[in-house]
Amino acid sequence: MEKFECLSCGTFYPADVFHYFCPRCGDPLLVASAKRGRTFRLERRSSLEAFQDYLPVTRIDPSLSLGEGWTPLVKMNRLAESLNFSSLFAKNECQNPTHSFKDRGTAVVFQKARSLGIKAVGTVSTGNMASSTAAYGGRAGVATCIFLKEGTPVEKILSTGVHGSHLFLVRGDYGNIFRQSLSLGRKLGIYFANSVDPYRIEGYKVASLEIFLQLDRRLPQFVLVPVSSGGHLIGLMRGFLDLKRDGLADRMPVFVGVQAQGCSPLARAFARGRETWTTFKNAATIAHAISNPSPPGGRLALKYIRENGGLMLGVSDAEILKAQRELAALEGIFCDPASATTLAGLKKLVKIKLARPRDVVVAVITGSGLKSMETLKEHRIPVHKTTVAKLESAVRSVFPES
Ligand SMILES: Cc1ncc(COP(=O)(O)O)c(C=O)c1O
Ligand SMILES: [Zn+2]
Repeated sequence: MEKFECLSCGTFYPADVFHYFCPRCGDPLLVASAKRGRTFRLERRSSLEAFQDYLPVTRIDPSLSLGEGWTPLVKMNRLAESLNFSSLFAKNECQNPTHSFKDRGTAVVFQKARSLGIKAVGTVSTGNMASSTAAYGGRAGVATCIFLKEGTPVEKILSTGVHGSHLFLVRGDYGNIFRQSLSLGRKLGIYFANSVDPYRIEGYKVASLEIFLQLDRRLPQFVLVPVSSGGHLIGLMRGFLDLKRDGLADRMPVFVGVQAQGCSPLARAFARGRETWTTFKNAATIAHAISNPSPPGGRLALKYIRENGGLMLGVSDAEILKAQRELAALEGIFCDPASATTLAGLKKLVKIKLARPRDVVVAVITGSGLKSMETLKEHRIPVHKTTVAKLESAVRSVFPES
């Protein structure tokens, strides 16, 4: 029988999608079972099937997939040159079906939900997990119940609702909404697969396995990841830990969790050498997707970072916006502000001389800029307004005859 495990107190529990926090410690539980003799099944086209041995599923139903995974690892030569690196890559998770990394976790959640005969799946989200859950729910014919935080960009609200999910825009403290979702879920039989759900986290591992293969079975020195609840970071780290356990890797990459300074409970705790976080008061940042003042999985994320030689950083909104523009203008990658924290964080690493020119660096670009268009106002993007009659002179003002 599948088991969940609490890494803080070492207790095992029977796997139960309605109870995935340790009643003793309050930390999120993780899937305990590690299959023996795991292999990559690279002859399979879908990412879920190729890495099935690393996932807590006995059978994959291909009809539930939307083609998640196998996202490109894009070499960023122009940014690398400006930062004096030889190998800088973007793992571009925007190319998942609903334009964020969340699809990897959601895909596993729905495999599980369908195999357990669950009738409704819910989530508490800043938007990306909402549209992902809604899309997979639509495809699986499973009803979805979505709690969105007030202030969610309209693109994310509408791209969730279009899939026919039940949407609730909730005002109030994130921690309270999160707790209520779990207790309501138990009462009403709705499986709330939130940001630190154990099956969701297992799904995130797959991106790390892909990175390893895309680098010809080499390990990067650094992996930079934007952090809110820490679920994604934990999942990615578990992917590399699996490789180590199976003897395919002899070390861990240095994981760098990046938060927006305007809401950085985990970066703050890390800087102060604390084991856990305290609620971040008056949170305010342009990176709405990672604005989470009280992350329920935060203590576990800090533990993973501490025990595996990683670190946490905070970056300012000005640094985030600059990085967002550079990723788009220099590398053609239009990501949301949350994802841009990775480049801003890398610049910090270079400044403090932690990252060196020969290091192989991967920045995980977690979500598309198209789902938070409001932030583009900040860039004051110039547009030449003209008429047909004046078009030639307008163009000449930018491209003079040479
Ligand atoms: C674009 C984007 N990046 C990063 C994150 C952070 O993920 P996690 O909550 O797993 O730390 C989120 C979470 O919603 C997100 O939408
Ligand atoms: Zn525990």
